[in-house]
Amino acid sequence: MSPVRQLGVLTGGGDCPGLNPVIRAVTRRALQAQVKVLGIRNGWKGLIEADVVPLNLESVSGILPKGGTILGTSRTNPYKRPEDHARLLENIKRLQLDALIAIGGEDTLGVATKLSKEGIKVVGVPKTIDNDLSATDYTFGFDTAVNIAMEAIDRLHTTAESHHRIMVAEVMGRHAGWIATAAGIAGGADVILIPEELIDLDAVCELIKKRHARGKDFSIIVVAEGAQFKDGTPVAEKRPERVDEFGHVRLGGIGHLLGQLIEQRTGYETRVTVLGHLQRGGSPTAFDRILGTRFGVKAVELVLEGQFGYMVSLQGNEIRAFPLEQATGKLKTVDMDLYNIAKIFFG
Ligand code: F6P
Repeated sequence: MSPVRQLGVLTGGGDCPGLNPVIRAVTRRALQAQVKVLGIRNGWKGLIEADVVPLNLESVSGILPKGGTILGTSRTNPYKRPEDHARLLENIKRLQLDALIAIGGEDTLGVATKLSKEGIKVVGVPKTIDNDLSATDYTFGFDTAVNIAMEAIDRLHTTAESHHRIMVAEVMGRHAGWIATAAGIAGGADVILIPEELIDLDAVCELIKKRHARGKDFSIIVVAEGAQFKDGTPVAEKRPERVDEFGHVRLGGIGHLLGQLIEQRTGYETRVTVLGHLQRGGSPTAFDRILGTRFGVKAVELVLEGQFGYMVSLQGNEIRAFPLEQATGKLKTVDMDLYNIAKIFFG
């Protein structure tokens, strides 16, 4: 029998569709192995405050199709204040948590890595709709976000065409333009702008004008929230005072600025839609439910095997263990081969 009698599970950082399937899978697989599960509320905050709830068959029943996380989440960084860190370590002992499963992105897994180095038995589960974690082929949540964005682009198409307008759709993607690229290809966007390539406004306007010259008097432009202008034009609404505990500035504003500039330069009527948190809400796709389930089961299996300091990862079609230490700090930016395919359809 595994020496682990009780494990804690938490979700940290921005929520995303697929978290509940992971929580359910962790709970079901652990209970099957006679390991008790404590749900930690609101990410690392719950471990600092000993805010926990026992998870059983009943508590995870019916949560598979639900978006968000039944445990709640936060962007609390326990390394920000030494007293929080001390309380967190104390609570791990007091709550008799023999192991932890931390479900999160770069920041949550960064904390998990540090805790693991301090001897805490942690296994990570990667999550982000941005799909920008290098150690896994895909993160759950991404597929749902892409489908939501694709559907929005489809809807924008019909109204753009009727009104002969340019439609700018701003999607999420802080450092990497995966959602923009994937949804843009799937939705047939006429231009896709991503953080990996600085925006050349002249070139964008030229493309649109050429498109209109060949009789297409409407255009769809997809822009990732983290995209920047080549000429250094600052993005409005970027509020440096709004920084989270991991140092991330709240983004937003590129879509409106871009729309305004394109309208000024081309003279074509332009409208802007910011998809924002719609991309993170609601029910996960089948792909994300299955990936979340596989990740959750594998995370418990790593715990049972005593393989700590690892993260579960999708490699090809296999779920494998990947060292936590190597999993964070390296961004997975958009595959330029894919972006070049998207470019074939620009204009
Ligand atoms: O990291 C995922 C993400 O959805 C980013 O794409 C986005 O910039 C950020 O979270 C938004 O975070 P919040 O929920 O704090 O507004």
